[in-house]
Amino acid sequence: MEVIIVKGYDEVGKTAADIIATAMLHKPDLVVGLATGTTPISTYRELVRKHKEGGLDFSKVITFNLDEYLGLPMHHPQSYYTFMWEHLFKDVNINPENIHVPSGQILDHERFCQSYEGEIRRAGGVDVQLLGIGRDGHVGFNEPGSSLYSRTRLKTLTKETVEDNSRLFDNPHEVPRFAVTMGVGTILDARQVVLVASGKPKAQAIADAVEGPISSMCTASALQLHPEVTVVADEDAASLLKRREYYDWVRNNKRQIHEVIEKQIRERLRLDHKEWG
Ligand code: F6R
Repeated sequence: MEVIIVKGYDEVGKTAADIIATAMLHKPDLVVGLATGTTPISTYRELVRKHKEGGLDFSKVITFNLDEYLGLPMHHPQSYYTFMWEHLFKDVNINPENIHVPSGQILDHERFCQSYEGEIRRAGGVDVQLLGIGRDGHVGFNEPGSSLYSRTRLKTLTKETVEDNSRLFDNPHEVPRFAVTMGVGTILDARQVVLVASGKPKAQAIADAVEGPISSMCTASALQLHPEVTVVADEDAASLLKRREYYDWVRNNKRQIHEVIEKQIRERLRLDHKEWG
């Protein structure tokens, strides 16, 4: 797990967007897992900027959103479908056929969840999964106690999450109590994961996820099992990390890896040249 600590919220977005954009340049038909909530907004803002100013191409990109509130119609102002169109899709050249957001209006949820998993598999699996993190350490809507093997399914939200989300609803009684969410197992299947976090309220969750024991009490901690995770946190969200100095040390030294490798290659070529006379 790599931990990148940056100054503030905007830098979190820039760093995460750089990782996603780099992956898109390597694979134009990248399959991206997307998150909603306040934190990824700066990432989407930066991706839109890269599209408008640098021509970052979304035409072949395929997206799968992590979750959706149960019971909200697709075009409800607070649905995650609406959120994604507002913050990303309307401003980039994505093909609407390549967009997948779980439906919040399903009668046969088991069947729906299985078919969502099937669609991810048919697309070749998620290449890069963007995640936020809840104050209770949830990723997607995998609340504490969720199985770390879980797949896409219906979840009851905790009181804390309902309270956190109520800020976005005019009437707090309207906040949905249930959501369809990719499971922890679904998330762990992604080839690469980028988790973004900002602000003091996320500090304990980030400390538990990165340095705590792997536990279903903080589902983000399951990311410790994944070989390719980058946590991008601002100073406030990173403030309870005990190994902060090491993360900065790794980051600063990483810049030198290419120099060391190049030096080795040059040395090898020099020796080969000598051997051949
Ligand atoms: C939503 C999602 C959630 C949020 C989390 C943090 O798609 O995946 O896990 O990322 O609740 O939300 P914010 O960023 O609003 O604090």
